[in-house]
Amino acid sequence: MLDVRGSVIASSYIVAAILFIFGLKQLSSPSTARSGNRLAAIGMTIALSATLLDRQIVSFWTIAIGTLIGAAIGVYFARTVQMTAMPQMVALFNGMGGATAALVSVAEFLRLTRAGERIGLGEGTSIVLGTAIGAISFTGSIVAFGKLQEILPGKPLQFPLQRVVNALILLALFILGVMVVTQGGSTTLWTVFAAALVLGAMFVLPIGGGDMPVVISILNSLTGLAAALTGFVLHNQMLVVAGVLVGASGTLLTLLMSTAMNRSVANVLFGAFGATSNETGAAASAVGHTVRQTTPEDTAIALAYARSVVIVPGYGLAVAEAQHTVRELATDLENRGVNVKYAIHPVAGRMPGHMNVLLAEANVPYDQLLEMDQVNGQFPQTDVVLVVGANDVVNPAARDNPSSPIYGMPILDVDRARNIIVLKRSMGHGFAGIDNALFYHEKTRMLFGDARQSLTQIGQALKSA
Ligand code: TAP
Repeated sequence: MLDVRGSVIASSYIVAAILFIFGLKQLSSPSTARSGNRLAAIGMTIALSATLLDRQIVSFWTIAIGTLIGAAIGVYFARTVQMTAMPQMVALFNGMGGATAALVSVAEFLRLTRAGERIGLGEGTSIVLGTAIGAISFTGSIVAFGKLQEILPGKPLQFPLQRVVNALILLALFILGVMVVTQGGSTTLWTVFAAALVLGAMFVLPIGGGDMPVVISILNSLTGLAAALTGFVLHNQMLVVAGVLVGASGTLLTLLMSTAMNRSVANVLFGAFGATSNETGAAASAVGHTVRQTTPEDTAIALAYARSVVIVPGYGLAVAEAQHTVRELATDLENRGVNVKYAIHPVAGRMPGHMNVLLAEANVPYDQLLEMDQVNGQFPQTDVVLVVGANDVVNPAARDNPSSPIYGMPILDVDRARNIIVLKRSMGHGFAGIDNALFYHEKTRMLFGDARQSLTQIGQALKSA
């Protein structure tokens, strides 16, 4: 009987792990992402059910009530969250994962100690690391949430000797951790937990709000690592596999984002980016250049008589919630025989896949979305590029000006198109806080205003063009 149960549990875990891996694979393309999410959710249901069979459950009622409350909160937030608030929701959920991993590690340590069981070197190390990493991830994520939600100031919060203080806390954590592994002691483990909570907050406070998506991705990989370590402590292979998958995907995402911004992970963590680059922007904008403005009517005519149009969405599209309006305009243009594509920069917006998610929500066909490498060669043959609330990702300084703070960041080469029309509210800067020579280019026309309003006006003008 026991063997049958053991085999069912082991097979369930294998099925769940396979579903997680295929789910993750499908998440890599917008067209399969929904089914990938479903597969992973089915995998998680199987894993949870098998775990309930596997463990000695003290009270199923407590688990049922906890699950119901957690699910109700999760469903409510998932359904009501604004697309622009998605990064902070991910931060909050990730923080909960970190806290859980830390508390489960501590609870297992207390249980083993009370039962008088000997805690081996491997198990003790996993407990200490799971506790410390989970707690760092918890407070780090909560501070990231606070910054993105504007409860905390978004600018880097720095104080003298910050790095020295952080290094001392890290050293204390190491010494306390060695004490727990070699001598035991629940008070020492609780001290590890408390010190790690402080370190998590201290680690994220000096990082600017705009860098939070990268930080959240790093914290996500830490939560995965903490969960995997907890899996070792509980001898639960499923938790190890799931934790490793989360840790690995978080690490890959961090590296991809840093590469797309041409910044090292160390620069994100210790560079206080927003604080320095604003000054460069102010200096650059002092140089007088001519800006050529246009009107919705002239824009409509330029678009109506173009053969090919490439739309470049950026953070401003998300702020203006203009995804539906831009899709409607694109459809009208296509009905007139214009070839319309969208150029997607990997870090346009403020979170990974931001533009893909927005455009998918507006039912833009996936085959109209072109990645940076695909589209860059096509700009010289493009009649009109319509830049909708994008700034840094189309800044030619990243390609041409070695003294620019964003020099080396791969960009969309929209300045190579025949005509460029930029929709934004003002000459305001983007995330990097620097001026953009594209806006002064002789081929560029600026259409100032909220992107959704401007697109609506262009659409109306197009109907009578
Ligand atoms: P940004 O460079 O941030 O520029 C966005 C522009 O949108 C602003 O210049 C703003 O100009 C305009 N805007 C804001 N609200 C608008 C509205 N309602 N209507 C029209 N325009 C509006 O955006 P981007 O080009 O997408 O570049 C993304 C930046 O974020 C990059 O520097 C990237 O490195 C950084 N970043 C990205 C991520 C990820 S993962 N995507 C993570 C961290 C950092 P006005 O104020 O004049 O309107």
